[in-house]
Amino acid sequence: MKTLTFFLVAFLAISVSFGVDRNNFKTCDQSGFCNRLRKFKPEKSQYAVNLDTVIVHGSVLSAEVNTVDTSTEKKIILWRYALRLSALKDGTFRIEMDEADPLYPRYRTQLSLNGEPKGDSLKLVSNINGQLTVKNGQGHSVVITAEPLKFEFLDKKGDVAVVVNENSQLLVEPLKEKGKKAVENDDEGSLAVEAEDESAWSETFKSHHDSKPRGNEAVSIDISFPDADHVYGIPEHTDNFALKTTTDGEPYRLFNLDVFEYELNSRMAIYGAIPVMYSHGTKRSAGVFWHNSAETWVDVVNYAEGTVVSSLVNLVTGGQKRRVDARFMSESGVVDLFVFLGDKPADVFRQYITLTGVAPLPPKFSLAYHQSRWNYVDQADVRSVDEGFDTHDIPLDVIWLDIEYTDGKKYFTWDPIKFATPQDMVANLTAKGRKLVVIIDPHIKREAGYFVHEDATENGYYVKNKDGNDYEGWCWPGASSYLDYFNPVVSKYYSERYRFENFPGTSKDVHFWNDMNEPSVFNGPEITMPKDCRHYKPPQDGHEGLASYWEHRHVHNEYGLFFIRGTHEGSLQRADSKYRPFILTRAVFPGTQRYAAVWTGDNMAEWGHLAVTVPMCLSLAAAGVSFCGADVGGFFKYPEAELMTRWYQAGAFQPFFRAHSHIETKRREPWLYEPATTALLREAVRRRYALLDFWYTLFYEHSTKGLPVMRPLFQEFPDEEETFTIDDEYLLGANLLVRPVTEPGVNSVKVYLPGKESKTIWYDVDSYKAIPAAGYMHQEVNIGKIPVYQRGGSIIPRKERVRRSSALMADDPYTLVVALDVNKAAHGTLYIDDGETYEYRDSKYIYANIDYKNNELNYTIVNKNAKYPTRSWLERVVIAGIRNSPKSAKLTQGDKTTALQLTLHKGNDVLVVRKPGATMAASWTITFGY
Ligand code: NOJ
Repeated sequence: MKTLTFFLVAFLAISVSFGVDRNNFKTCDQSGFCNRLRKFKPEKSQYAVNLDTVIVHGSVLSAEVNTVDTSTEKKIILWRYALRLSALKDGTFRIEMDEADPLYPRYRTQLSLNGEPKGDSLKLVSNINGQLTVKNGQGHSVVITAEPLKFEFLDKKGDVAVVVNENSQLLVEPLKEKGKKAVENDDEGSLAVEAEDESAWSETFKSHHDSKPRGNEAVSIDISFPDADHVYGIPEHTDNFALKTTTDGEPYRLFNLDVFEYELNSRMAIYGAIPVMYSHGTKRSAGVFWHNSAETWVDVVNYAEGTVVSSLVNLVTGGQKRRVDARFMSESGVVDLFVFLGDKPADVFRQYITLTGVAPLPPKFSLAYHQSRWNYVDQADVRSVDEGFDTHDIPLDVIWLDIEYTDGKKYFTWDPIKFATPQDMVANLTAKGRKLVVIIDPHIKREAGYFVHEDATENGYYVKNKDGNDYEGWCWPGASSYLDYFNPVVSKYYSERYRFENFPGTSKDVHFWNDMNEPSVFNGPEITMPKDCRHYKPPQDGHEGLASYWEHRHVHNEYGLFFIRGTHEGSLQRADSKYRPFILTRAVFPGTQRYAAVWTGDNMAEWGHLAVTVPMCLSLAAAGVSFCGADVGGFFKYPEAELMTRWYQAGAFQPFFRAHSHIETKRREPWLYEPATTALLREAVRRRYALLDFWYTLFYEHSTKGLPVMRPLFQEFPDEEETFTIDDEYLLGANLLVRPVTEPGVNSVKVYLPGKESKTIWYDVDSYKAIPAAGYMHQEVNIGKIPVYQRGGSIIPRKERVRRSSALMADDPYTLVVALDVNKAAHGTLYIDDGETYEYRDSKYIYANIDYKNNELNYTIVNKNAKYPTRSWLERVVIAGIRNSPKSAKLTQGDKTTALQLTLHKGNDVLVVRKPGATMAASWTITFGY
């Protein structure tokens, strides 16, 4: 009880004053390996390839790499490493380097790759003067300098695109035995490498002691991107999309942490860690993915930035102005680096997602509007919120329940009084096509009689502490332990908790929110699990002592991924894999997108927090997580009307659209504001619903092509330098440009419209007014205005009827908005299916091309075996930018031809074709006559 009081007091104490408590989190200096490695700047790399050992076979070059003591005449081998360079499909290479004969296996990240990457061919082209050159099947080459070791990756033209170990910071700290001097045999006998270093064997942060039973085992690598203007990626941070030089302060940190009241413009770690980085310049895009799940710090040096560094630019780059260097430092693991040779932004984004997997097609409701709060207090509250949306004519698809719905924070249970009949509550929602999402966290309440706790204790399912006993931490329920999801038996047990019979009250219409999965441990070091906790490792030879388990330090960033994978598996199994699950996660790691959507955690009702949603989601989307959003309205504090309005308007154009708020904040359902504000919030939500089929088509295309849904402008306009640092606007797919208003009290905002060179035309979606791209312009914005522009040359589907939920709109008719380019042509696509099952995998869907050219609009179903009998039909065609009105129009579908009515709106050159009435279940053509 004492501890509980202590935590409550501490929690309340921090919640009165806002702002992160930095003392809870390490700086690089306070993190042993970061401090040690950051100082490691050898003049020359100590690693060299033993050329006699090189073998090229299939897609792999393998060789022995040694570190050599050069202090004596005789070059004595200090340590041996195994190197593999693999050529992979789609312009990707992989460098792996591990100790040749480690004391015990080093951890290799397990879940982030979507299966074994596919190999490309690899040929040894030359081996002369200590340099090996290999070439893949697509014409990229790698030049490996044997000593000092260096890798140069050449694009198809033969220009150097990426260099690895240019700055000699490749490092693998060999595993050693405590108390013994590190010794490696070479031909000459044995050699003592280093004197024993006491600090290697334990570390302390605040009152937390880390026993470090394996000593130092860090790895690091450096990468240079010649010709790059900027680098991007390595989410999750609250910084700009284009990363900054870090030499003036802290490196970017990647360590999944529950950071209370996180600050903006920061390189501090927060909930997610995706070690992928992209470079971009006018010459090319390239990228690297550092496949490692341990705590990681990343330094960046952009030689073109106006810092002290730039005065060194000529010295270091030999006069080459543009170049960005980066360095990844991780506490453990092996060297495992993927290199992407692009050469366009879309190529590198796809190359990364080819490795880690796309987000599967989400259920359609999950792209609609979600209403959440910590907490809707009981069933009556849920009912009244649900009805409130109907009364105020605001569409809604999902209501969320936070931790208070449970019986005393015991997951897979309901509060017996407040949520006594969950089936009825769910039935009430589903009657209107709505869904329920409930939270399930990874911590398990240590309470006698709680079935999960009893099962876990009895069967040894919990993560162990450093002494091998069940680890006990503190989280929402008080004393808690954590299932060891790394053990397949535990993971299966956990997944089975989701079966309808094991979680009564749930049905296929109840989905899940996985929070606190960094994991968050209120009394742990940096609010997480101690690094010397023990996780399951599959039994293998020599499975004893340190070889019999993984430490939390090895797997930390991957913990949340194992957890959500279990949730995903459980959600599938409970309904025989018939329905698509929806899961939301807070912790993020490469591969997360295969299982869940992501939100950016506990933000604040402040303008800066609204603005940062764009770079944060852009960065996550580039790193594979397209399904991203932020708490609309801000989690902490109360958003006044203007901020709330702007946040709904922004959220309506971000992939995951959910309002959520902290338990201690004032209630803020849309109708609790003044009617004028409610009207604006309603309008924002309705805008989302009107474009839901556009969103759904984008996510379908993401699942087939792997490109981000939310895109930086430079993905579509890679040669336009101004776009490289723009992160207050973005594109949805290739064609909708969004510049949310994130500043208070403004009546105009600066908007950059790209594509001047290509004579791109943008159409304001509110007025269909054509605006030729000319860089920056001023857009007037009253409080109702959301600056959104449709690209000339595109066709976007809409549904204009307002209903209570997306399910009720399934059969509604479409409006097609055709925005013409300079050639008076346009193209779009449309995807339709049942919105919730996997039957689309059995051809039960429609995917159509929609093309306007030569005075004809063609709707052509692309999948020939399409079996989805949609009842939706074509209600309207709006053609923007048409100038000359056709005299007539006729619809042809099958053998039927119908004359159509046309109205030309002269002022803005918009032609409206009314009620063509074609069914969307079959192809059709509208022909215009002049
Ligand atoms: C932390 C989450 O970030 C927040 O969204 C949630 O409301 C609380 N946990 C309570 O579950």
